[in-house]
Amino acid sequence: MSSVTAETVGPLPASWHPSSWRDRPAAQQPQWPVQSTLEQACETLAKLPPLVFAGEARQLQGKLAEACAGRAFVLQAGDCAESFNGVTADSIRDQLKVILQMAVVLAFSAGVPTVKIGRIAGQFAKPRSSSTEVVNNVELPSFRGHMINDISFSERSRTADPERLIRAYHQSASTLNLLRAFTKGGYADLRQVHRWNQDFIASSPEGRRYERVAEGIDAALRFMAACGIPPDAPELHQVDFYTSHEALVLDYEQALTRQDSITGQWYDCSAHMLWIGERTRRLDGAHVEFMRGIKNPVGCKLGPTATPADVLELCENLNPDRIPGRLTLISRMGARNVFDALPPLLVAARDAGHPVLWECDPMHGNTYTTPGGLKTRHFEDVVTEINGYFDAHNQAGTWPGGIHVEITGDDVTECVGGAEALSDNDLERRYETMCDPRLNGTQSLELAFRLAERLSD
Ligand code: PEP
Ligand code: CO
Repeated sequence: MSSVTAETVGPLPASWHPSSWRDRPAAQQPQWPVQSTLEQACETLAKLPPLVFAGEARQLQGKLAEACAGRAFVLQAGDCAESFNGVTADSIRDQLKVILQMAVVLAFSAGVPTVKIGRIAGQFAKPRSSSTEVVNNVELPSFRGHMINDISFSERSRTADPERLIRAYHQSASTLNLLRAFTKGGYADLRQVHRWNQDFIASSPEGRRYERVAEGIDAALRFMAACGIPPDAPELHQVDFYTSHEALVLDYEQALTRQDSITGQWYDCSAHMLWIGERTRRLDGAHVEFMRGIKNPVGCKLGPTATPADVLELCENLNPDRIPGRLTLISRMGARNVFDALPPLLVAARDAGHPVLWECDPMHGNTYTTPGGLKTRHFEDVVTEINGYFDAHNQAGTWPGGIHVEITGDDVTECVGGAEALSDNDLERRYETMCDPRLNGTQSLELAFRLAERLSD
């Protein structure tokens, strides 16, 4: 029997606990005015039921492992920042509809199973490049998402309020409840594919192209019935839909981290999947420390400054046991950088034998401000980044496992370009996002068709 010495084992990993992040520098945390009210809010949260179950997070990890192995494609999509205002059953349903439409296009046109994850039911906190904002010589804290403060520019609105953590929990619970009802209660039935095509989308060329996909699905269902294939397979009538958000406010995430009664392991039960942003991925920082101990599938954004060494250290820290599906790395390089910046990262993980699931976020590296002062993104830049991402993977011999996009089912005008050729002048018409510009329903569907073309190359 070989003996293992201290040198070969190396230092034992430091012990982990849901609160061990507190010993590390935590970037992007709100300035809560009164510590005791924050502590009370966290105590309240810690007693509330989990939003998701550990078993569901494990099931998602299994599906992500399939994507990691090149047998599935991940569609992670939703709001940049969810709002506490104006959330209705219709707005949640419309967000789900467009994700289901995109997934159907990918699965039907490209023949790949699609893993569906929403940026929803918890996406309430935003990292900011500046901690304050100045308007007319008045300086106030930046808006950090409805989990923390409010967007209007007054001292009261911008003061971080821990009660909002509890409100974020309750809104996540009601959103998730409706999502579960829609996805398991008949709305996501494949016989409903035509109903997902909202009026304003249906009248566009993409909507008509989608109708042809839907007719193809009808025909496939009829064919299966004619062959005597039993029509009651749950896959035809229900959808597995998972939730995710950026694990930014660590007090909130810690309060929802629970020990699974079956395995004894810790799961962050605020969502099925959590990710770390580009601004909080410091290896010695609090976010990496928190994420390394939870057993949910986790993600990490990588911008153009990420090095191969960063990738390897993130892999070692976040997935030391090399479990496929555990770690998703989400590149967000920008259309101009992707082809130079991404390949060395793909090669580093590949050569080290780390099972990384790669996603492309083609949004955050392509944001710019118009002369009129609105943040936007050009649809063609989004497509260019996705093309560069596919090319980089083809060259490295790795699988482009998914995309991560900011979209809405609504007919907003936030991103320019696309088949409707939205221009800067159109943006004012329906610019509703609380943070970054999202693809509207038609642009999202168009993106799905472009993706399907690349996937079936
Ligand atoms: C986001 O996903 O909304 C975000 C802020 O991304 P990033 O961390 O890549 O900037
Ligand atoms: Co964003």
